[in-house]
Amino acid sequence: MGEELRRRPVEDLTQEEAAEDLAALAGEIAHHDKAYHQKDAPEISDADYDALRRRNDAIEARFPELRREDSPSRTVGAAPAAGFRKVRHAVPMLSLSNAFDDDDVREFEARVRRFLNLGSDADLAIVAEPKIDGLSANLRYEDRKLVHAATRGDGAEGEDVTANARTITDIPDTLPPDAPSIVEIRGEVYMDRREFVALNERQAEAGKPVFANPRNAAAGSMRQLDPRITAARPLGFFGYSWGEVSEPLGDSQWEIRKRLKAWGFRLNEPSRLCHGIEEMLEHYHEIGDGRAELPFDIDGVVYKVDRMDLQERLGFVSRAPRWATAHKFPAEQAQTVLNEITIQVGRTGALTPVANLEPITVGGVVVSRATLHNEDEIARKDVRPGDTVIVQRAGDVIPQIVSVVLERRPEGAEPFAFPDKCPECGSDAVRPEGEVIRRCTGGLVCPAQAVERLRHFVSRDAFDIEGLGDKQIRAFHEDGRVMRPADIFTLEAREDRRLDKLANKPGWGKTSVANLFKAIHDRRRIPLDRFVYALGIRQVGQATARLLARHYGALDTLAEAMEAAGDREGDAYRDLTNIDQVGPSVADDLVAFFGEEHNQQVIDDLLETGLEVEPFKSSGKVESPVAGKTVVFTGSLETMSRPEAKAKAENLGAKVAGSVSKKTDYVVIGADAGSKAAKAQELGVTTLTEQEWLELIGG
Ligand code: IVH
Repeated sequence: MGEELRRRPVEDLTQEEAAEDLAALAGEIAHHDKAYHQKDAPEISDADYDALRRRNDAIEARFPELRREDSPSRTVGAAPAAGFRKVRHAVPMLSLSNAFDDDDVREFEARVRRFLNLGSDADLAIVAEPKIDGLSANLRYEDRKLVHAATRGDGAEGEDVTANARTITDIPDTLPPDAPSIVEIRGEVYMDRREFVALNERQAEAGKPVFANPRNAAAGSMRQLDPRITAARPLGFFGYSWGEVSEPLGDSQWEIRKRLKAWGFRLNEPSRLCHGIEEMLEHYHEIGDGRAELPFDIDGVVYKVDRMDLQERLGFVSRAPRWATAHKFPAEQAQTVLNEITIQVGRTGALTPVANLEPITVGGVVVSRATLHNEDEIARKDVRPGDTVIVQRAGDVIPQIVSVVLERRPEGAEPFAFPDKCPECGSDAVRPEGEVIRRCTGGLVCPAQAVERLRHFVSRDAFDIEGLGDKQIRAFHEDGRVMRPADIFTLEAREDRRLDKLANKPGWGKTSVANLFKAIHDRRRIPLDRFVYALGIRQVGQATARLLARHYGALDTLAEAMEAAGDREGDAYRDLTNIDQVGPSVADDLVAFFGEEHNQQVIDDLLETGLEVEPFKSSGKVESPVAGKTVVFTGSLETMSRPEAKAKAENLGAKVAGSVSKKTDYVVIGADAGSKAAKAQELGVTTLTEQEWLELIGG
């Protein structure tokens, strides 16, 4: 293949050239994989290898249809060796010894004192901090730039996940000038529980497998060969430790934590600098009690001797430091009987099996229901009504069935027969080939879907109407008062005619009715992003709704664009899928939603009631000089990564587009920019250097 072609920017390639390069890349990468993994004789540097993979990804991102059967990006989910390069850690990543009860911790502290020859009265400061249940990673910075990220692996060798790490906002791309020239920051990649639940909902909606817990979700997201998938996953990172450093980071753990924070790392809190065993245990029990309220999963508390000189003296025993230990929380599992499996119908018609359990306390919370996710999950775990099951609060709050205690299976327990009719409306429930979700085909006639849609419509992140909770919605739907979203806004007018009938209903008084009408009235103006989210479009959660609102600005623009996007070859579709994090699958759901007459009707009816959908305003900063402007970034930027530039621009109210058109206001040109710069010139669009852009936005 021509070297010249390889040097050309991806955005300048024609389709033919792209295909040619992809073929060549597939061959070359396979060759280097073999040399590295099978012969242990790499022929090129890690950086050069990464560049090949990045180019392959970039070309595929631009020409998804050219992705080859043998593409390097297809080797997903394989054993480490098949997908990721191995990285040898400069300093091994160790594990921690464990303490399971208070006595173990007392013993740990006493051992440290003995080792250091400290009397029981001498001061011994120990940092206590949460033990995060995630995936540990090592981030290597050279000359203050992130050059490598690796998983822990077996401690000696991990997997190269650099491209994925770069997509995590908590991981700084650069460190400030006071950082040593070589520094490795270690910590935990994790996923917030709420994000985990939302991700699983999206996965289930899209018919993809769900994750068992936030830890698995974080690990699965990090071990994606396609960094675009990782980028779309809500991952975070806590920094709490370090590997190779060219100079000491500080004199104490506590001081170094502060330094990590100043460098832009998020710290795992609540942490405490303890003096004495009682303070340590107090902190452990406090964290344990507040565990369910923390937004992320933890599985214990880590104690670390604070002073670095003492840490050094203490050193290591086999593979764990003598100066630290992990005080684990007891596992939150329990056994109970599964009485019955019932089916819940969601707002998009998905049939979700729910295990109804003999109520049991798991880690301090009474659990009587647990999700079974879908048909295949039931079969995989072979869960049958009557079984004794092990229940776990994954992420402390979401109960799950871990497994069946087979020895306790009652005689004659039959496998669960998943219904092929909707239990709510009797319509056929179908499961398209290749999908795991069975859906009710009843659409509007299915009361469950209608009620779920209404519930979603008024929920906190949508219209947020106080006084219209699950119970009221269900009751209003049952007595025919509220059948569609628009009915909520005509409720008052209709009730007037019925002479306060509502106030005579049990559970309602004059005040509560008046309050409800006021709450509804207050929502007659609604921001576009909330409105879009409230519509309950498949795969369109809050984040996507916001992206759409930001991109299209106003409801009519959005609606028109979605209709136009029905043409998969057209500009509108390309524009839609150009939005960061809106892939073809989300785009298809959007197009399908707006393509349905009755959905359009729902929107029209709402507007008919006088509802006002406010055009999108960015977070209070509309005053920015670039608010409402469309910007295209091209070429490589110096002071920030592309995602960072994009996020910053969007925060300032600008739209970031992938291609230059007459509607573009600014094209920001980095190094090695290609055709977009030329296109801008041709169309007379203002071009800016990175510096000029920064000056414009005042950053
Ligand atoms: S310190 C030399 N601090 O737990 C030991 N580890 O069981 C450095 N972990 O591999 C580790 N939270 O992945 C440390 N606050 C914390 C932690 C933590 C989670 C993980 C880490 C480690 C494992 C050991």
